Amino acid sequence: MRIAILSRNPKLHSIRRLKYEASQLNMECQVIDPLACQLVIRGKESQVVVKNRPLPTFDAILPRIGASITDYGLCVVRHFEMQKVLIMNGSRAIAESRDKMRSLQVLTEAGLLVPASVLTRNTQSLRTAVEAVQGLPAVLKILRGTQGVGVMLVHSPISLGSVLDTLRTLDQDVIIQQFIVEGAGRDYRAFVIGDRVVAAMVRTAPQGEFRSNIHRGGTAQVVKLSKKFEQTAVRAAKILGLQIAGVDLMESHEGPMVIEVNSSPGFEGIEKATGINVAQAIVKHMKSAIRKRK
Ligand SMILES: Nc1ncnc2c1ncn2[C@@H]1O[C@H](COP(=O)(O)OP(=O)(O)O)[C@@H](O)[C@H]1O
Ligand SMILES: [Mg+2]
Repeated sequence: MRIAILSRNPKLHSIRRLKYEASQLNMECQVIDPLACQLVIRGKESQVVVKNRPLPTFDAILPRIGASITDYGLCVVRHFEMQKVLIMNGSRAIAESRDKMRSLQVLTEAGLLVPASVLTRNTQSLRTAVEAVQGLPAVLKILRGTQGVGVMLVHSPISLGSVLDTLRTLDQDVIIQQFIVEGAGRDYRAFVIGDRVVAAMVRTAPQGEFRSNIHRGGTAQVVKLSKKFEQTAVRAAKILGLQIAGVDLMESHEGPMVIEVNSSPGFEGIEKATGINVAQAIVKHMKSAIRKRK
């Protein structure tokens, strides 16, 4: 079996782990830089060319597309889809989960609980927006932020207006979102592969911070999720069409709320916190998907 990982950086912890686990399972694994891929369409033919050579055929491809190269990266993934290669995750699923508003639309439409949210470019009807998210303080999020950057808490109508004006000038669309007071400072990360949660951790924000991202100083601990949390995480991944997903959830009065779904979840933190071999679970999942297909 021959698989490929699409990644800019073969030295990343997750990529090195995946390569190692693939070799343990006797799978050939090549890391391809998506930005090195030249995409050719000619008549009914399509080809991916790297260094002047067409790529060999792979049994499966694992895209690890970072936020900074989303557009080109998605085009590369889409090209492999044209060649009917098994891909986890697909381009549409990645695109849909990366956009914070779009993913909330899809999740809420499917009946999952998400925080009340407003997307607006207009600062005239802010009163209605604030009412819709159950008042202040409220959370502001730029559409494509990651690692907690681009997520803010605003306490007054004056700061809300001025922050929105500022972001508008910077050409950033923003979501105004209900602040989940009861669960603040803590979120749950469920690592979903296929139709199950393989590992889960709870992340706690440092003192004086509401964002629990590890990159913002949050700390992680292994956790046993309740059935309800597990089912919500698996459903969220499924609805977005993701085979591999990092689903972030918060506890609310109404039950588990989905905060966001990551299509290229890292696993250094979760492997450390839980002692679970996530990389091996991913590679095994790919292997069985390839078998099923053959
Ligand atoms: N609506 C909310 N209410 C309270 N805390 C939130 C809310 N949304 C996000 N957070 C906190 O902020 C962190 C970052 O938000 P998130 O939407 O996951 O953005 P990012 O993609 O940057 O991680 C979350 O992990 C959570 O701790
Ligand atoms: Mg997050």
